[in-house]
Amino acid sequence: MKEAAMRYEFYNQDCILGAKEHLEDDSVDLIITDPPFAIEGDKLHKHYNRKETFVIDGYVEIAREEYADFSKLWITEAERVLRPGGALAVVSGYSNLIDILNALRGTTLKEINHIIWKYNFGVSTKSKFVSSHYHILYYFKPGGQRTFNTFARFGSRERNGNNRSLLYQDLEDVWIINREYKPGEIKNKNELPSALLIKLIQYLSKPRDVICDFFLGGFSTAKIAKGLGRSAIGFEINKISFDHHYKEVETIRVNEIAGDVKVGTDDTPLKAGEPWREGELNQLKDRYLELYQQGRTKKESIQTLSSEFERGPWAIIKRLNSMKFRNKSDIPLQFYFSDDGA
Ligand SMILES: C[S@@+](CC[C@H](N)C(=O)[O-])C[C@H]1O[C@@H](n2cnc3c(N)ncnc32)[C@H](O)[C@@H]1O
Repeated sequence: MKEAAMRYEFYNQDCILGAKEHLEDDSVDLIITDPPFAIEGDKLHKHYNRKETFVIDGYVEIAREEYADFSKLWITEAERVLRPGGALAVVSGYSNLIDILNALRGTTLKEINHIIWKYNFGVSTKSKFVSSHYHILYYFKPGGQRTFNTFARFGSRERNGNNRSLLYQDLEDVWIINREYKPGEIKNKNELPSALLIKLIQYLSKPRDVICDFFLGGFSTAKIAKGLGRSAIGFEINKISFDHHYKEVETIRVNEIAGDVKVGTDDTPLKAGEPWREGELNQLKDRYLELYQQGRTKKESIQTLSSEFERGPWAIIKRLNSMKFRNKSDIPLQFYFSDDGA
């Protein structure tokens, strides 16, 4: 089958009209988007006391009283254009999150995760707690195969210095990712950090997938999507931002950052989850005693057995734990397992 050509299509228009005009039903694999939050985002710099010299003018905010209807309209379009199995990740602040959640719940889209993204530089407060998180609502359109690349970034055996699984940590639904500080660079208000976009794209899409952003802003989603070898399409209503940033996307080569990002490999043992055969259990026991007699430590023995029997270390420990050794004096106490497998 001939591969579809990569698409890089951006429209300087309202995303609701733009989607109706340019996007076919079931044509998008993944939507990553960060709508205006209806919190007077066009005036936010006053609260943040931020210099706006390098921030692009013309950010279009939505009035609070229009936000519920606006959210319903664009989310209905998002639902229509997603392919069955396609996914949507919406970044939202807390203030008007309820409107986004209500809009999502009025569709056929199904919630997979509600992720908390914790970032630095919240606004300092004296009489309440500092707000330093956003929400990422991860939904999918039923009826097709959803993409979730479990090992896109870490293999199951990769550990940090405290022997904690890096994969597990990366899969937790609280993400600590700092916002990027880009002194002296022309940027959109509220640009999403590359690390966050890379993570979403690695887990939720395949190379050559079509990724759409309804609110391109600084085109961050499009830039990372192209850099990771995905197609990118989207809308931005602000002409100043559009004219500045779409040119930046053109300078990025397809797949140019793929070699710079951390990737994992699926190292799930071949026989993980398979029932043990009786003969295999006897072999496991004999081999464990043999390794002990060769002077291997318990940890080394588990690693060896895990690779020889093609099962995870916990599966090996669980089995050894439940075994009765014929002659207890053959094996010293520290080679037995306590109830928790230690
Ligand atoms: C929060 S920003 C997006 C930031 C973007 N994710 C980034 O990383 O740069 C929201 C953007 O939506 C744009 N916008 C507002 N209303 C829109 C609409 N109806 N259609 C398309 N874009 C719109 C705003 O001008 C603003 O640039």
